[in-house]
Amino acid sequence: MLSVDLSHAIPFLSLPYEEALRPRLSKAAQWLDAGGGKGADFIGWVHLPRDYDREEFARIERASQRIRQDSQALVVIGIGGSYLGARGVIECLASPNYNLKKKTTPNVYFIGNGLSSDALREVAELVEDADFSVNVISKSGTTTEPAVAFRFFRALLEKKYGPDGAARRIYATTDRARGALKSLSDAQGYETFVVPDDVGGRYSVLTAVGLLPIAVAGIDIRALMCGAEEMMQCCSARDFSNPAWQYAAIRSELYRQGKKIELLACFEPSFRFMAEWWKQLYGESEGKENRGIFPASVDFTADLHSMGQYIQQGERTLLETVVRFGPSEHQMVVPFDESDGDGLNFLAGKPLSFLNDQAMDGTLLAHVEGGVPNVIIRADARDARSLGQLIYFFEYACGLSGYLLGVNPFDQPGVEAYKKNMFALLGKPGYEELGEQLRARLGR
Ligand code: PA5
Repeated sequence: MLSVDLSHAIPFLSLPYEEALRPRLSKAAQWLDAGGGKGADFIGWVHLPRDYDREEFARIERASQRIRQDSQALVVIGIGGSYLGARGVIECLASPNYNLKKKTTPNVYFIGNGLSSDALREVAELVEDADFSVNVISKSGTTTEPAVAFRFFRALLEKKYGPDGAARRIYATTDRARGALKSLSDAQGYETFVVPDDVGGRYSVLTAVGLLPIAVAGIDIRALMCGAEEMMQCCSARDFSNPAWQYAAIRSELYRQGKKIELLACFEPSFRFMAEWWKQLYGESEGKENRGIFPASVDFTADLHSMGQYIQQGERTLLETVVRFGPSEHQMVVPFDESDGDGLNFLAGKPLSFLNDQAMDGTLLAHVEGGVPNVIIRADARDARSLGQLIYFFEYACGLSGYLLGVNPFDQPGVEAYKKNMFALLGKPGYEELGEQLRARLGR
């Protein structure tokens, strides 16, 4: 079971902080479990691992089997919370090189997460000669980036399979009743999956948003949900035996003492997109009202050779949270070399996990000595069940953290600012006046 080790962070705190935070954590837990706090309309994810829609879950499994049978590729269209979780889980469990591997499951391509023409053309070319399906994901159904990408890929499918054939290969994950994507799906007869009203984008990886692409990649989504439910039980404890209480409390106290940036680190490169998911979760949930820890991520040991210098000796505003997985089942052992020209025979016969462990411990001690508190999150293994635990743990701790900070952890009003400007500059009807003002500011 996932656990949190605070022994390399607590020494940075001069006073016992847990008792001081206990009443606010109790209140926050009560708000998450039963409502009453800010954003209470968006706490549907809290009991989701127990209460999820079994009928829809079975449809997700059936759809994933169909895609695996009739498609060599799945194009997943979505951005932000409608993108990062699925990519994070697939890369973490099936590899960042998943598409390059020999396998019986389809390639999975992510697009609609930006407006780059080159990125879009590249995926279109990659699936040109393949049988493919599309999973378009947008809770609002109106987000520009995925909507534009969907236009292109819908046209490609229709050209290849005709309108009816294309409709059978399009799976739309969106609101139960509202939005342009829902209306289009109903009109065209696409199979639809629901993003529940009370689950915001960045908390939606354990809904159809994440589960369909993850299942297509051959990952055991039942184990993922099972892990999440185990962690839901753990997080229901209203005391410091709860790992989410431990993590939320120490973050809160370290932030109060000037640790404004949190680095999420992992010594498994396949974790990179899980860290991207985590950054959105914490950044959007806490970063508002001129408050909040800035979430950043590093990929070790690679980034020890780029960011390591700053972490060791730069401005002392950092805290580091390291996710440690149990050893891999597939161990590479350092080979013996007769000539020992590289001087590495002292490592011969040792598994790489041993080297990685020593790198973790060496880094931990160096960074702590350099003034960076370290929180360690231990997960049993890099498998679906442990990842389900980790996802729920981070979500629950994030809800607690937002409430401790005094903000609404479930809104993202700041995201609208760029959208408004972009619409105005693109000439969207209704934005004419703002468009003129912005063009004047840009000197056009
Ligand atoms: O967390 C969020 O709410 C956002 O990141 C959204 O997920 C993102 O903007 C995409 O929105 P939508 O799913 O409505 O297209």
